[in-house]
Amino acid sequence: MTALDTSKTVAVIGAGTMGAGIAQVAAAAGHPVLLFDVADGAARAAIVTIGKGLDRLVTREKISRETADAIVGHIVPANGLEALTGASLVIEAIVENLDIKQALFAQLEDIVAAGAILATNTSSISVTSIARGLRAPGRVAGLHFFNPAPVMKLVEIVSGRVTDPAIAETLFDTATAWGKIAVHTRSTPGFIVNRVARPFYAEALRLCEEQVADPATLDALMKGGGGFPMGPFELMDLIGNDVNYAVSLSVFNAYYQDPRFRPSLLQLELVNAGHLGRKSGRGYYDYTEGAKRPLP
Ligand code: NAI
Repeated sequence: MTALDTSKTVAVIGAGTMGAGIAQVAAAAGHPVLLFDVADGAARAAIVTIGKGLDRLVTREKISRETADAIVGHIVPANGLEALTGASLVIEAIVENLDIKQALFAQLEDIVAAGAILATNTSSISVTSIARGLRAPGRVAGLHFFNPAPVMKLVEIVSGRVTDPAIAETLFDTATAWGKIAVHTRSTPGFIVNRVARPFYAEALRLCEEQVADPATLDALMKGGGGFPMGPFELMDLIGNDVNYAVSLSVFNAYYQDPRFRPSLLQLELVNAGHLGRKSGRGYYDYTEGAKRPLP
């Protein structure tokens, strides 16, 4: 067993949908966690949101008040990247953009210790490319959680072309120690799950574009008839349409623009309108009053 010792600090970069969830998972496992986001106040706001989520679990008697307080107490907002110097494992969960991720990893290389692991939560971008140009690209691997990270069991451990196998093993064992089901995968576009899931979104969007059925009907059908826990449109609203679109575009381009993976213009229009899903209050559904409501 080579899991990271729980005394070791985990740094999470990006305090959005995924970063907040990943920080909670690492903190629940007992690690000190540093949470950094480029947006002012975002890390602090994420910690408040994590606390509220845990309060609900306390109310429902799923966890004790002491446990909830301990998890929140383990997460500290970081004021800058320099504050991450003592981290043994850095998990990047920022915007799904290769150039921005590469720039961040290049900065990190000068900040963290030589033995620290640099992990990315990318959904689709080549881990090999993210590591390219670094002095020690072997310590970069994908640690791909699913949304919501504290709930979803699966974690893909993504090895790039030059990822050190020992790093992949440590991440596998660490994810397992955190209560997750880890799976090794190579750095291929979309890895396993996002590759398999592309047609789930794409065909549903095409049916909608062809006015065969609206999102609510298609979601109801896939749940009631297909046995899926969530319909494609509910799931895209949970993921974030900006993130889902970026993943589709990245997989499409990586497969030499294979038409099977062509992103949806309907989804692009939602992104252009800022209708990103739950996080913006509107996507395929309206969330402005809390519960999901179909749009007129
Ligand atoms: P998000 O949009 O909710 O959050 C991203 C956060 O990163 C924002 O708070 C933003 O301010 C911050 N950020 C952007 N650039 C930064 C930088 N240079 N340094 C520090 N912080 C920066 O995005 P989300 O959904 O959390 O996605 C993050 C990553 O996780 C992406 O790579 C995405 O593909 C991946 N992912 C997303 C899933 C989802 O369901 N949303 C599921 C699994 C992976």
